[in-house]
Amino acid sequence: MKIAPSILDADFSKLQEEVDSISTADRIHLDIMDGKYVSNISFRARDVEAIRFPVETEAHLMCDTPEIYFDEFQKLGVVGITFHIENTGEDRALELFGDLKSRGIRAGICIDGYTEPEALSDEVLRQADKILVMSVKAGKGGQSFMSESIEKIKTLRSRGFAGEIEVDGGVNLDNVKLLAEAGADIVVVGSFIMKRPAETRAEVIGEFQKA
Ligand code: DX5
Ligand code: ZN
Repeated sequence: MKIAPSILDADFSKLQEEVDSISTADRIHLDIMDGKYVSNISFRARDVEAIRFPVETEAHLMCDTPEIYFDEFQKLGVVGITFHIENTGEDRALELFGDLKSRGIRAGICIDGYTEPEALSDEVLRQADKILVMSVKAGKGGQSFMSESIEKIKTLRSRGFAGEIEVDGGVNLDNVKLLAEAGADIVVVGSFIMKRPAETRAEVIGEFQKA
């Protein structure tokens, strides 16, 4: 399994040290919250522009109007941007995929913890580079894993989706194997990594990568 730690619960007063402590991860996940789609507000690209990320980054936009963040995260150099079908609906999602792809950014679509995979049409599945299955309700770290997400992954694979499936929310070393077996490629892990001492994180990242 690949792992993308989320820095949502990192200590932003020493963020460079924090990202250096997760340098063996496959990718770093940036959770952007606008205070509208979700009540919390997290951070913007400018808040991390001075950070030297040791591995590639991706942005997860939990935001009513995701497109207004595309320029700043392109400038930051993310490899992928994921937005929510709950925010855009299908037609706008397809337009935004085109926009992201023309920028050379991988286009991801997310279903929130309470959304069924049927909310993604076959056309969305054909055009998306990545599907992010949330296994909590978007909005904050440290929530418990919703096991329904396992069936959602299987459904998406059985419908023929061959792109990347990423799972986000409540992931730990107890559920990662089930996610791998269901067909997930990469897990986002927030509190399970960032709430432990920096010097122990690389070992835990290695455990996920073995799963
Ligand atoms: C939740 C975010 C997640 C979250 C993951 O709204 O999208 O990325 O930070 O954190 P944990 O692993 O603590 O659920
Ligand atoms: Zn996320």
